Amino acid sequence: MCGIVGYIGFRQAKETILTGLKRLEYRGYDSAGIGIVTDEDVEVYKEKGKIEALERLIKNVEIKGTVGIGHTRWATHGVPNQINAHPHQSYSGRYTIVHNGIIENYKELIETYIPNIKRESETDTEVIAHLVDHFSQKGLSTEEAFREVIGKLEGSFAIVLIDGQDTSRLYAAKNKSPLLAGLGQGENMVASDATAMIHVTNTFKELKDGEYVVLDHENLIIKTLDGDVIDRDVYTVDWDTSSVETGAYEHFMLKEIDEQPAVIRNIITQYQDEQGQLNIGRHLQGLAVPSRVYIVACGTSYHAGLVGKRLLEQIAHIPTEVHIASEFLYDQPLIEGDPLFIFISQSGETADSRGVLDQIKKQGYRTLTVTNVQGSTLYREADYKLLTHAGPEIAVASTKAYTAQIAVVALLSIYLAEQKGIAGSIDMFQELRTISTAMDALKDMKDKAKHIVEEYLTDQRSCFFIGRLLDYAVCLEGALKLKEISYIQAEGYAGGELKHGPIALIEDGTPVFVLITDQRIAKNIRSNAEEVVSRGAKTCVIAAEGLHEEGDQWVLPRVHPLLTPLVSVIPLQLIAYYAALERGCDVDKPRNLAKSVTVE
Ligand code: G6P
Repeated sequence: MCGIVGYIGFRQAKETILTGLKRLEYRGYDSAGIGIVTDEDVEVYKEKGKIEALERLIKNVEIKGTVGIGHTRWATHGVPNQINAHPHQSYSGRYTIVHNGIIENYKELIETYIPNIKRESETDTEVIAHLVDHFSQKGLSTEEAFREVIGKLEGSFAIVLIDGQDTSRLYAAKNKSPLLAGLGQGENMVASDATAMIHVTNTFKELKDGEYVVLDHENLIIKTLDGDVIDRDVYTVDWDTSSVETGAYEHFMLKEIDEQPAVIRNIITQYQDEQGQLNIGRHLQGLAVPSRVYIVACGTSYHAGLVGKRLLEQIAHIPTEVHIASEFLYDQPLIEGDPLFIFISQSGETADSRGVLDQIKKQGYRTLTVTNVQGSTLYREADYKLLTHAGPEIAVASTKAYTAQIAVVALLSIYLAEQKGIAGSIDMFQELRTISTAMDALKDMKDKAKHIVEEYLTDQRSCFFIGRLLDYAVCLEGALKLKEISYIQAEGYAGGELKHGPIALIEDGTPVFVLITDQRIAKNIRSNAEEVVSRGAKTCVIAAEGLHEEGDQWVLPRVHPLLTPLVSVIPLQLIAYYAALERGCDVDKPRNLAKSVTVE
């Protein structure tokens, strides 16, 4: 959802901010804007649509200045148009602001403090700028006025403010919306995430709710809302601009699919000590083995959770439930014993999952977040955290984050099994090394994926993915990938359930992808495939070596039976990618979707 960037330093702010905004495009947006401090004024340019539209608008305008703010807006209050796009300015013109999130009490604030103000846009954001102006006209300094306003806002926000009368500093604050500070030499930044600042710095400071930050060229000072300075450690990330650029690839999605073997190898390195032993326990100090696990997640991360359940139950013998966060929030199951709640989230910012974390923490339960983003809200607020170390994932359709989440939960399961003294546990590092080799082979089979798309998916409106047990979990993910980016209606179904309803949808030529990686049900799922073939379906069988038969379309390398999703998902990711490409869809930025869904 919305992206936000603020820069103060020596580089040209226009280019620096536009680069940052482009890196945030993956979040989803429908208008974009910048506000740059020039010799003249704070110049604001904004446009409906993509950043390219904004770039066209300012192509022939000279905008020189080294301080500025930028924004990509995903409309909430007010339609996506030029007027509602950010930045917004206060009634006197003194303050310029960009904001992510939703101010829930903006109407009350208008009535209480600025009832006579005429708003130019329909946004709640504009109100924040007017309020700062209002309090500064009452005699407060800008910093005091900013603090005063922040303290009054209810809802979610990440804000950056420029004072047109003193452009030597920027003010920023957050509550429940992501905002990170980036530190350079003679320059400082804030942005929604690290990818938007990596062209300037790889050194960051987390910002927390209930704080604000004042940035100038040299300093970045974090304070409480009472004005007390907070000392915060910096951290660095070990990736660079190449991690957030497509490089030789046409799309991030394909790049990220291809990165999966390297991600698995990186996870091994991150969680193995010099003696080759699992050292994940250093992140789990004091965590007693839970009697039950509740996994809470959304979208692809939920699908990783379905696999995680099998791993935790089979390896660590811990009963595990998996819940969709948005359902759990209003329909909490009965909880007994001493459970652990595991939040799986690529971004660590998904509002639905955050809502459950809040709820569960209030009830005093233990929480663990598995996420790709260090410093994200779910990372910060959980008792324990495990990073997936997948590197930035930019394409909206999640690929490498999914496999990384499963690999990390596999290692967690081994750790918990060891804690419980379960003997004969799996040599998980060895199994993961085998997986990474298998992934290498699969990702190089792009021609096969292209041919399958040409044969099965050129003009179909709908299709099925069927499998049983873990294959069923992967079918849900395969179907989600395909619908997200190619807009083909795709259903992931448990093979045995087809005959209880959905088989009615099978017509002549309906594509049905059949996954077979488990010996126990190989025969049954083949029967299910027969059932659809005899009703006209066209099956594409993807089977593990040893379970394959002549005529199957894709044979997968054999891996540990509990880890098959890590390899079986790759053909499905590739098929979704090439289907979207074939249909001329915007692969990395599919319609209506956002990478990080920060509203409920
Ligand atoms: C959005 C994305 C999905 C993602 C889901 C959960 O809907 O488009 O790709 O799976 O959010 O995101 P999370 O960051 O919590 O894993």
